[in-house]
Amino acid sequence: MIKVSAPGKIHLSGEHSVVYGQPALLTAIDRRCFVSLKKRDDQLIEIKDKKFKKKEKLTFNQIRHFAYLTKKAWQSNDPLALVKIGINEIYSFLEKKPICGFDLAINSQIPFGSGLGSSAALAVGLVTGVLLYEHSSRGLINEIAFQIEKRQHGCPSGGDNTVVTFGGFLRFQKKANRFEFDHLKLPQCKDPVFTLVDSGQPMESTGEMVAVVRQQITNHKSQITKIFKKIGEITNSFIKCFQKADFSQLKYLINENERLLEELGVVGNRAKKLIQLIKENGGAAKICGAGGVKQGSGMILVYHHQLEELIEVLKNKNIKFMKIKLGEEGVRYD
Ligand code: PMV
Repeated sequence: MIKVSAPGKIHLSGEHSVVYGQPALLTAIDRRCFVSLKKRDDQLIEIKDKKFKKKEKLTFNQIRHFAYLTKKAWQSNDPLALVKIGINEIYSFLEKKPICGFDLAINSQIPFGSGLGSSAALAVGLVTGVLLYEHSSRGLINEIAFQIEKRQHGCPSGGDNTVVTFGGFLRFQKKANRFEFDHLKLPQCKDPVFTLVDSGQPMESTGEMVAVVRQQITNHKSQITKIFKKIGEITNSFIKCFQKADFSQLKYLINENERLLEELGVVGNRAKKLIQLIKENGGAAKICGAGGVKQGSGMILVYHHQLEELIEVLKNKNIKFMKIKLGEEGVRYD
């Protein structure tokens, strides 16, 4: 039996502009997706997902056929779609078929579709589990997981799968058709504490929100390019804050990043109201993923230099929150 787990992630800074070559600061968080894989005596592959309460037993050829059918329309209502597409991507990449069948069980602690990298954690966990039979370098895991992310999101930057694979804090930047990343070595200090507030699951997928921004570029190229550049500068300042362990600018940087994301048109009213409340109570907040405008915008990253004070306000208003740890370990064998 093989057991692996991959963390969720947040964008501390740089979502959307990272798709267009600006740097992003990403970190792994302490919510994980657990994947286990057990060899079977026959050729079947049984997939079980605890969160979606779904179980399916298929041949490899059925999986391959499913992946072929969904190639054009990467949106599917089947909750196991990404797993089947992922299995096909892995074996296509390796140019082979599984030698024997396996039971695959998935159990994720990461809220789905909320900007916390649930699909990247599933992709990286799945690839790691399967590659344990084959090769097992993190570089290869990341490369194949990126192919699966492309099937889920269309045109992702590759930042989510990279931070979920390697963990810690990463400065990530897309350069033409490849990406570069540095593991940030941060001084030993008491890291600032963040919490997440849920603005509701977006109705739109990440791919759709990336398309919203692409449309904005078509309509207002120079204005949007300026916004991307400013977000890139914010990301670099954010990194300096962490490297120097001087968090005095953090509040300003988070609020400024949020203002620019609102200008990009990726934040909905529900999230804007929550963010306003947090600011009025001395905090800073931004969405931390692709966002959404029709209803929810996913998780909101919240910072306050006296977090407990803000938590009292959230409790009094019955607003749910989730404390998180940053810089967590990447994918690992459990
Ligand atoms: O919402 P998430 O967790 O899928 O994050 C998306 C981040 C984007 O910058 C909007 C897209 C990307 O591929 O980097």
